[in-house]
Amino acid sequence: MPKMTFINRDGSRSTVDAPLGKSIMEIAHLHDIDIEGACEGSLACSTCHVIFEPADYRALEPASEDEEDMLDLAFALTPTSRLGCQIVMTEKLDGVAVALPEETHNLLRE
Ligand code: FES
Repeated sequence: MPKMTFINRDGSRSTVDAPLGKSIMEIAHLHDIDIEGACEGSLACSTCHVIFEPADYRALEPASEDEEDMLDLAFALTPTSRLGCQIVMTEKLDGVAVALPEETHNLLRE
């Protein structure tokens, strides 16, 4: 099974099993990683925001316009930010690492 690593807010790293076909948000939830995912993947929040290494980011399918719009509202956006609910684990992503942003911004609560 593929693996992936979450770099937690305290700098610690959690390397976990990453089943093919699951989104990064779903994988985080399987392993109690602190990604909220308030809208459960329906592109209505930005609480599943994760940050990729530049090389990994460039290898991803480009974000949809809807994802871009929601990312624009994300707190602590970086040039390599994506929404974890929109990135699905593939063999190609085996071993990928993503960092959790320092904070997220839950628009659903406002
Ligand atoms: S979980 Fe809400 S946009 Fe990803």
